[in-house]
Amino acid sequence: MFEQVEDYPVDPIMIGADYFAQDPRTEKLNLTVGIYQDEHGKTPVLKAVKLAEQQLVDKQTSKSYLALTGDAEYCRVLGREIMGETYDDSWVAAQTAGGAVALRVMSDLLGQMPKPPTAWLQTPTYGNYVPILTAANARFAHVPYYDALERKITFDQMLDVLQAAKPGDVFLMEGCCHNPTGADMSTEQFDALLDVLEARGIIPWIDLAYLGFARSWQDDCEMARKIAARFSECIVCITLSKSFGIYRDRAGALFVKTQPNDRDRVQRAVSAIVRSGASHAPDHGPSVVRTILQDDALKPLWLEELDQMRQRVAGVRQQITAMENTLFGTGTLAYIGSQSGMFSLLPLTDAQETILTRDHGIHVVKGGRVNVARLGAYDIEKLIRAIHEITVPR
Ligand SMILES: Cc1ncc(COP(=O)(O)O)c(C=O)c1O
Repeated sequence: MFEQVEDYPVDPIMIGADYFAQDPRTEKLNLTVGIYQDEHGKTPVLKAVKLAEQQLVDKQTSKSYLALTGDAEYCRVLGREIMGETYDDSWVAAQTAGGAVALRVMSDLLGQMPKPPTAWLQTPTYGNYVPILTAANARFAHVPYYDALERKITFDQMLDVLQAAKPGDVFLMEGCCHNPTGADMSTEQFDALLDVLEARGIIPWIDLAYLGFARSWQDDCEMARKIAARFSECIVCITLSKSFGIYRDRAGALFVKTQPNDRDRVQRAVSAIVRSGASHAPDHGPSVVRTILQDDALKPLWLEELDQMRQRVAGVRQQITAMENTLFGTGTLAYIGSQSGMFSLLPLTDAQETILTRDHGIHVVKGGRVNVARLGAYDIEKLIRAIHEITVPR
């Protein structure tokens, strides 16, 4: 039977990790990873997380199943944190295993509608959207978002292509720290995009993965808050993997804002989809998040630790820009200093990207994504010299 299993495409990020493992050079550098790392290349457990875990060990009295949509209190606390005052009973919420499952449940909901809407995706964007939407049999189409060689957001082209969207379609956008580009829309661009979505009856779907890594936890919720305040129907997915450093513990949520007549039906649909897929949400990660958000001592400690992670990533970005200026002064990497979050795209062609790995042992995700959080002081110089050698004709 299994001889008929087709060859599935492997996620480029996983391929990158495999190539890195197979590279015999000792001086190799792995910029493919999608997680925060400190200056020692470690992804530490935050102190606030450890303390919350201790509280859970001491106080948890049962590990029975939760409701299919998880713990209502977790959803309420998180919904309030992200959407603020606008978060009310019109929202259907589900506690999910990270953001990936929130995205999958939403994609299933779209794919199962009698007249499935099209989800419009920024390109390039998070590499798992297409596999998730495809697995859910949901419709999707692409709008251009960013030009890596020009190092800029292709905002006007994005709006041009979006002209083809129909009322009732959804626009899937990332919140801050856009993966893989690091390029976030300006406030003016974001507001202009919302104007277009509202005028055309397109439903915003925002995916939040890096809250706290751009400006601050509160400020980074701004995009979701604007959407929530303005639209009577909208979708918010969130993963807490990065903001709490609890990648393997799988904490996330799906929030769907509905019209009053639709609310209960959407709630039942989400529950049914959860039942047939992830079934019950894991509770450990979400309980850690809920404990921290509700504890007057742990919340400020966590916010401080989140801020340290943000500052480290922002600092590495500044170092790249400054060192390039000192070494070569071409300004070609200045854009990295103005972007945010862990990722940026290198301005390299496919051929140049191959040379970067083959001749310099620097591994990046296909398409040129690098994780700047992975870079130590020595690595920054190595990367800049390699890019210069590859891109500047001699
Ligand atoms: C934009 C974006 N959305 C969602 C996710 C999914 O996060 P998780 O795997 O923690 O569920 C990621 C993870 O890298 C991401 O970058």
